Amino acid sequence: MAKEKIYIFDTTLRDGEQSPGAKLNTRQKVELARQLEKLGVDIIEAGFPISSPGDFKSVEEISRTIRNCIVCGLTRAIKKDIDVAAAALKKAKYPRIHTGIGASDMHIEHKFKSNREEILKRAVGAVKYAKKYVSDVEFYAEDAGRADNAFLARMIEAVIKAGATVVNIPDTTGYCFPEEYGAKIKYLVDHVSNIDKAVISVHTHDDIGLAVANALAGISNGARQVEGTINGIGERAGNTSLEEVIMAIYTRRDYLPYYTRIKTRELIPTSRMVANIMGIPVQPNKAIVGANAFAHSSGIHQDGVLKRRENYEIIDPKVVGADSSQIILTARSGRAALRHRIEDIGYKIKEGEELDRIYQEFLKMADRKKEIDETDLRSLVN
Ligand code: KIV
Ligand code: ZN
Repeated sequence: MAKEKIYIFDTTLRDGEQSPGAKLNTRQKVELARQLEKLGVDIIEAGFPISSPGDFKSVEEISRTIRNCIVCGLTRAIKKDIDVAAAALKKAKYPRIHTGIGASDMHIEHKFKSNREEILKRAVGAVKYAKKYVSDVEFYAEDAGRADNAFLARMIEAVIKAGATVVNIPDTTGYCFPEEYGAKIKYLVDHVSNIDKAVISVHTHDDIGLAVANALAGISNGARQVEGTINGIGERAGNTSLEEVIMAIYTRRDYLPYYTRIKTRELIPTSRMVANIMGIPVQPNKAIVGANAFAHSSGIHQDGVLKRRENYEIIDPKVVGADSSQIILTARSGRAALRHRIEDIGYKIKEGEELDRIYQEFLKMADRKKEIDETDLRSLVN
């Protein structure tokens, strides 16, 4: 079966930067945008130009610098926002304006104090206005996760008719379950008559830990663009973690008929850069990029990995830019792991009595310490 491309839309610099404490200056944003370009993302959402002079300047600089990705600026469905975004994107080789408005009754009534018909008019007006500046206009139906599907379909049909090239269906509050979100995307595929004229994008948040599962469910039901951030940073509990979606598609290419153009070896360097530059460390057990993602510490697993890495690893660490699998020595480790690590630092050790003796000493030490490092190993052997 021919594989279909999934477009990767990175919003680390916009939704990700909305994480408390993650604010970056223009130089840092350009540096990160360059790394995202090297990683091979298709679209970089560089910021929300009207939000501050600093954000405007960052979007402007990124537009000037980046040549191999679409550069996108966020706006509300307000003419002034769109004017400012268009000005910031002027130098972009491939500019995109991302405009939108709330689609749920919650947002329509309690945020906009409006009604469905008025909101529809504003949505269409914003897309038509943005089209005066750029041909590539993405529309977001904010809080689509909680929106009525029939109304959402009307809105999406109307904005595509107005010229939207991409339609973003955000689960803004991270509310949906995967089957529910997948069904929402399918509903749009089945009920929006002009849906073939636009790419459907999934943008999911992680409030109950379902962002990646929801994004994948959206893809399975017809979405071809996925939005997210590196390390899953973002508002509240964060956004879809892009490295997880990318590696799900890569690792299960036997099962999923999709591909991305991501250079997966750049995932860990990009993750480290985001963590360092934003000052938000990655939790050690984080999938793909966490410090323990390729670390093995129990005897049974270590023995299995030393016999054949694939016994306990479904991803080759080198594919994502990690050095190799790690064998961590703790009180749960076995003789095979101890011997492997000792030989790794250059000692020869005989199976049998010699190894047994060192192993007993090792266990005593490991009960006192959490982890046995190279210095401990040398003192044990000596
Ligand atoms: O979560 C959301 O709805 C957003 C939109 C602004 C795209 O971030
Ligand atoms: Zn968002």
